[in-house]
Amino acid sequence: MERRRWLQAAVLMCLLLLCSGRELKNKRQAPAYNSTLAKTLAEYTSAVYTNDLSQLFTWTCEKCGDLTEGFEVIDLIIDVKNCLEVIPSIHGLSFLPLIYSSFTLMLIVLMSQAYVGFASDMSAVVVAFRGTQENSIQNWIEDLFWKQLDFDYPGMTEAKVHSGFYSAYHNTTLRDGVINGIQKTREAYGNIPIMVTGHSMGGAMASFCALDLIVNYGLEDVTLLTFGQPRIGNAVFASHFKKYLPNAIRVTNAHDIVPHLPPYYQYFPQKTYHHFPREVWVHNIGLDSLVYPIEQICDDSGEDPTCSRSVSGNSVQDHIHYLGISMHSESRGSCRIVTDDNMLRHKVDTVDGAIVFSKQPGLSVDQLLSTQ
Ligand SMILES: *[C@@H]1O[C@H](CO)[C@@H](O)[C@H](O)[C@H]1NC(C)=O
Ligand SMILES: *[C@@H]1O[C@H](CO)[C@@H](O)[C@H](O)[C@H]1NC(C)=O
Repeated sequence: MERRRWLQAAVLMCLLLLCSGRELKNKRQAPAYNSTLAKTLAEYTSAVYTNDLSQLFTWTCEKCGDLTEGFEVIDLIIDVKNCLEVIPSIHGLSFLPLIYSSFTLMLIVLMSQAYVGFASDMSAVVVAFRGTQENSIQNWIEDLFWKQLDFDYPGMTEAKVHSGFYSAYHNTTLRDGVINGIQKTREAYGNIPIMVTGHSMGGAMASFCALDLIVNYGLEDVTLLTFGQPRIGNAVFASHFKKYLPNAIRVTNAHDIVPHLPPYYQYFPQKTYHHFPREVWVHNIGLDSLVYPIEQICDDSGEDPTCSRSVSGNSVQDHIHYLGISMHSESRGSCRIVTDDNMLRHKVDTVDGAIVFSKQPGLSVDQLLSTQ
């Protein structure tokens, strides 16, 4: 026992020395990576996978607690327009009244969603995105191999992005809903910082959102921290991105496959997709039972060869767990909307094919109920 303890301590010391070496190297222009904040935002991101929308809206879901205790959701926006196109058996508007009338929905639909709210402990607006991932994450990942850089980011010469990722945020009702939610929250609580987060496709949407807030809405104090997101644009886009969001963080996990996609071709760095900085690569080092997780802060190139690019990156399992928190919906088929709670009936609006749960800032859930 003694001996084992000692061995553990010795290995930890070694690891710490290794890490501190790396940290010293990065210290000169160290970015503001805050491990506690990353963990907190991972919990916020995890919650967006809750399928029960009323639990999510009232922050009573299973994943709504711990570091996110006391969070106040102000707007919850669900983009259902895309669902209608994908499920031929549900025709246009006949689908929407169903939402009003019964409020017990068990639909298999494609959707993306986002919520905006107020975190009193951090005194910040939190915006979290959940991306569409079609029916199977495997299919989605396979498609990522072939995504083209096929859209010019408006106003940035030679900056190219993937139109699908771009329009998942820009060409849906999510954008208006999120902007509206942020404005409402800031009107009530002052010009507090805005923290934007998301996982996977939701991370791609979060990135476009954070950039949008700065470039098109002139907002300041925007923090972006994403988990396991794919590449979204070329090197020129990444350098613009870095200028506007110098402290953006992309957390990648071990062998997660998604950050490796769409592919980066080392010999054509200007022609292909290119991540914006800065990656923080979470992985285990050590031997067998003495593994020790580290959060390695990578260089400011966006494509640090010593970070996740140093491994093959072929794991789906590593994609759905981040910092010990699960990042996927509870049910398979993943796109079910469930709410059997009619208390929220009057707070729901459908705007252009979106469902929006909305409340005034400061109104408690009990008050929300009693006003009906
Ligand atoms: C890190 O983030 C946490 C949570 O937001 C905050 O309480 C803490 O003050 C931050 N630490 C630093 C050093 O900024
Ligand atoms: C978004 O929608 C606008 C107007 O419908 C269209 O012109 C534009 O090409 C779309 N953008 C993308 C990237 O699909």
